[in-house]
Amino acid sequence: MKDHTHHGLTFDEWDEARFPREKTQEFDRVVERAISRRGFLGGVLAFGSGAAVMGVAGLKGSTALAQGAGRFPFEQIAAQTDGTVHVPDGYDWQVLVRWGDPLFSDAPEFSHETGIPTDGSDRVFGENTDGMELFSVDGREILVVNSEYTNNDINLVGSTTSEADNLEEERAPSSADDVLRLQNFQGVTVMEVEEGESGWSVVIDSPYNRRITHNTPMTIDGPAAGHALLQTQDDPTGTQSLGTFNNCGSGRTPWGTYLTCEENFNGYFGATGEMPTDEKVAAGYARYGISAEGWGYNYHLYDPRFDVSENPNEPHRAGWIVEIDPRDASATPVKHTALGRFKHENAAYALAEDNRLVVYMGDDERGEFMYKWVSRDAYEDGGDTSTLLVEGQLFAATFSDDQSGQWVALTPDATGMEPAEIAIFTRTAASAVGATTMDRPEWIAVNPTAPEGYCCLTNNSRRGATDDDGNILTNAGGDPMEVNAPNPRETNEYGQIVRWRPEGGDHGSESFEWDLYVMAGNPSVYQDSPNAGTDNINAGNLFNSPDGMQIDTTGLIWIQTDGDDSNEGDFEGMGNNQMLAGDPETGEIRRFLTGPNGSEVTGLTWSSDRRTMFVGIQHPGAPFPDGEGMLPRSAIVTVKRSDGEPVG
Ligand code: FEO
Ligand code: CA
Ligand code: CA
Repeated sequence: MKDHTHHGLTFDEWDEARFPREKTQEFDRVVERAISRRGFLGGVLAFGSGAAVMGVAGLKGSTALAQGAGRFPFEQIAAQTDGTVHVPDGYDWQVLVRWGDPLFSDAPEFSHETGIPTDGSDRVFGENTDGMELFSVDGREILVVNSEYTNNDINLVGSTTSEADNLEEERAPSSADDVLRLQNFQGVTVMEVEEGESGWSVVIDSPYNRRITHNTPMTIDGPAAGHALLQTQDDPTGTQSLGTFNNCGSGRTPWGTYLTCEENFNGYFGATGEMPTDEKVAAGYARYGISAEGWGYNYHLYDPRFDVSENPNEPHRAGWIVEIDPRDASATPVKHTALGRFKHENAAYALAEDNRLVVYMGDDERGEFMYKWVSRDAYEDGGDTSTLLVEGQLFAATFSDDQSGQWVALTPDATGMEPAEIAIFTRTAASAVGATTMDRPEWIAVNPTAPEGYCCLTNNSRRGATDDDGNILTNAGGDPMEVNAPNPRETNEYGQIVRWRPEGGDHGSESFEWDLYVMAGNPSVYQDSPNAGTDNINAGNLFNSPDGMQIDTTGLIWIQTDGDDSNEGDFEGMGNNQMLAGDPETGEIRRFLTGPNGSEVTGLTWSSDRRTMFVGIQHPGAPFPDGEGMLPRSAIVTVKRSDGEPVG
């Protein structure tokens, strides 16, 4: 839980008491500059508190709302705190699939008392649905979905061993059997879906159906393939990997493959003996957060591959972008080391003016960076794509206070590192070139209707905060997280969305201009404070912690949240996590969908005819969707217009 208390002080009093500083705050300077560049901001969006502080007139919501009304085919819904899903009038939703539902007719049957047994746990839809993409293959609809992590209490409900070692509040994996079951519930699900008279369903036994787990063989390519740091007992060649881990956001390529993004991979590893002492390995562990204890998966206690005292290089095989071919259930997934190793959120592609492939990526940890990949070769429809995620250049983003920015190439010259080490220790390489520390970059989306990208910066409780000696807190690489222009709020609990426009409208360009599309906030609780948020935040569309994001074919920005859903204090009026739609031009944002209490809304894609939206409901707290007395189950829901018209 976050600390919501401000000790009875207003934000400014509290803030000033904790962090005394000059009267003119960095935030005000950012606001001044942002407002002076109203052309880029579309002449509508302004910073709420800044407008008041600076005495800048106008740009208030009413004009923006009037201009934007035509872009939204729905009336926004109220915040909700209950245990189910809500959508606007004129829309309907249905459950497509839940954790534990069968993909094959020989899959075990789900039980609310015993869950899914280990035998067959890789034949069902995985747990904690996250990023997803839909592909049309030979006229069939193939949905590819990430399963990010597990919840021991729910996923081990039927375990005979975990009960014995029950921690007070939580079941713990306590046998190789428990661990294998958890490994099988995560990774990626490929499944054919079809629409019938009563809605969408999974096509059981479709030849496309497939589970990819923590043990599925994959190959490794790019600059780190074969490197000594990737050589393990399991694969002395350093060119293969077993499994893909903590599959968070998604991406797709123009040639019809799926990209799964490995995020908090560090949590699966632990040590039964000494931690590695090799200097580079140990430094990497420190930067990426690999510890002897791990995060409670206990893999290392029962599966030696995850015991870093035995297998110090095993964590180097995780943290990558992995390409999966949805057209062939027997295809071997590929880990592309050229795109760097970090806590990958998602991967959003664009084509440069000369048709080189550009992939934007965020590293979701406090004070980590934004990246982009640019291929060496151009994409050609139907042409050879084999080099496009292998040969090219990785860049990290620097944001300047004057609202310009640069993509800085992570080359051996610039970083002092060899290409394989730049790939494996990408965070270190980006620190070396002075990349800008960000407030946890989550999903990035590219606007198909304008040359611009957006990144959700979800929150950062440590932004601008100091330790007991008054030193500004840093990321794990020692880069200070002082307030900076795109991350202008101290102890940022609401989050913001940064937008950039590449120079000349060319995603291949190394320069860009940027602004903040929105700063979430709570103007009902805070006035004349950065915590009020920007002017496109109002009592009707309150939210915090933007995370998932997609931009549809009409240019509407769909924003999903993973934040504090207590509906109290600083978060009062926000209700459950939700999905909102934003107009890129006017800045208007409207609430479209609310998830069940306790859940995060994450993952969004569309059917080929754009008449159905697939929306992910992750880790519901309420017994969603099966009702009272039942286990809560992550699920994908479909959303359609009642009149059958397209939804994006
Ligand atoms: Fe898996 Fe950063 O969200
Ligand atoms: Ca996320
Ligand atoms: Ca998140």
